[in-house]
Amino acid sequence: MTAIFSLDGKVALVTGASRGLGRAMALALARCGAHVVVNGRNPTGIEATCAAISAEGGTVTAMAFDTTDIVAADAAIDRIEADLGHLDILVNNAGYGNGKTAREATNAEWNEIIDVDLNACFRLAKRASVGMIRRGWGRIINISSINAHIAREANANYCAAKAGLEGLTRALAVEWGPTGVTVNAIAPGYMMTPDNMDTPLRADPVQRERFAERTALKRWGQADELDGAIVFLASNASSYCTGHVLIVDGGMSVKI
Ligand SMILES: NC(=O)c1ccc[n+]([C@@H]2O[C@H](COP(=O)([O-])OP(=O)(O)OC[C@H]3O[C@@H](n4cnc5c(N)ncnc54)[C@H](OP(=O)(O)O)[C@@H]3O)[C@@H](O)[C@H]2O)c1
Repeated sequence: MTAIFSLDGKVALVTGASRGLGRAMALALARCGAHVVVNGRNPTGIEATCAAISAEGGTVTAMAFDTTDIVAADAAIDRIEADLGHLDILVNNAGYGNGKTAREATNAEWNEIIDVDLNACFRLAKRASVGMIRRGWGRIINISSINAHIAREANANYCAAKAGLEGLTRALAVEWGPTGVTVNAIAPGYMMTPDNMDTPLRADPVQRERFAERTALKRWGQADELDGAIVFLASNASSYCTGHVLIVDGGMSVKI
């Protein structure tokens, strides 16, 4: 039974894997047998994730680039195809919000968030799809957010980008379905990652409790609680699943 979750022989690129959810998902994919390409911009964080994977006996390649740099991102996909022979799984995880209200965010700040959370994911998926379609097998997994479904204050650009990413997920699933490439998304709720856009929320005991109380499970998620979702969507276990958004939010979105 566990064979359907095996990623033996697969190559996976996880963007933004130098810390947080990306790091946890990179480890999960490696544990199931994938060779993982660890991306981010900070070489120290990338090396730390690579060391953690290697320490567990996994195989890994470090690849620093800014996902919003079109030339660098295209070159990275091409390098993976050339050096490792194939790219089978793309996890579009690199992303963030800036906590700016709709009225205070400048046009440049709006564009920055749309670029990292939506445009870069589209460009990477498009480039990665070339080899995947040629080989007739591929998995593209976009990391959205519960904020694509329910909004909170000071988050308009992020909510818009993640909702766009989910629309893109469905559109690419329809376009590429006949080729053997599936495109799905994971929409995490509020997760305990050490140093990210939600650090101020977690640091405030009132807000921290407020967000825990909003969930059915009455708590924040842990970074490794996307492991099952990412392995499912990356493996043959999800072979008939495409265009889906898997919400992993402790029940926040189903609770009144
Ligand atoms: N944590 C949550 O509660 C939560 C909830 C819902 C959705 N999400 C989504 O999950 C994803 C990961 O979130 P996280 O909490 O793990 O964030 P995080 O801890 O801030 O990590 C973000 C990662 O993305 C990388 N990154 C950022 N911009 C990049 C760029 N332009 N090019 C390459 N790498 C870049 C960062 O690495 P460098 O600094 O090395 O570049 C880092 O590895 C994001 O898409 C986020 O929107 C998170």
